[in-house]
Amino acid sequence: ARDQAVVVAIDGPSGSGKSTVSKAVAKRLDWQLLDTGSVYRALTWYSLQRGVDLDDKDAVIATVPGFLEAWSLSLSPDERWVRVGDTDVTDRIRETEISAVVSKVAGIPEVRDAVNQRFREILVGTDADGIVAEGRDITTVVAPDAPVRILLTADEDVRIARRLAEKSGEDAARVAATVTERDKKDSRVTNFTAAADGVVVLDSTDLGLEATIQAALDLISARSAQ
Ligand code: DC
Repeated sequence: ARDQAVVVAIDGPSGSGKSTVSKAVAKRLDWQLLDTGSVYRALTWYSLQRGVDLDDKDAVIATVPGFLEAWSLSLSPDERWVRVGDTDVTDRIRETEISAVVSKVAGIPEVRDAVNQRFREILVGTDADGIVAEGRDITTVVAPDAPVRILLTADEDVRIARRLAEKSGEDAARVAATVTERDKKDSRVTNFTAAADGVVVLDSTDLGLEATIQAALDLISARSAQ
């Protein structure tokens, strides 16, 4: 391993293929994967578990130290799990109950500062050759100096169609409304739709999954060799 892991920062809205692409890239390179959204989700679960009113910012902020103490996350792309203490929350943090309110927690600047600090420690401290960190503000705030920074986008109608394909049987209008609503909520927290200086936009609207993964891998081999 080199002294410092190659950090690949990938941001994008939900439905852009970000999680799938990040995981596939980490797997193929035999690198690690840091799913930052799962941390906001796990913190939301933890706060609700403790009966915290998510609209009470100070109360949410007060849960952060205890949460960070108890929280652990697998960095292996092959083995995905998130734990809080002894509780495995991998599946329950994906439930609608959490998705619907996680942006309240992610929208608190003090929460973001504390969590981002932990992300940076993970990126610096890893002994892997490389690590793919995915989220909304990795290219801009968490790892603005990363050698590879990608904004993965796709037109909204394509993202809605992908979500629908994942959730066969669900009402199309409802899925569309959910995607639009989440974009709106998330965009109040971080601006992930415009690429910051030096960030490469990878638009997957007209690309299949394999082509998108290949494009990301090409960017990584071009940039991390510099
Ligand atoms: O990517 P996701 O759906 O698991 O993200 C969950 C929530 O956390 C979503 O509301 C966006 C937010 N988030 C964020 O604000 N910053 C990040 N780096 C990652 C996720």
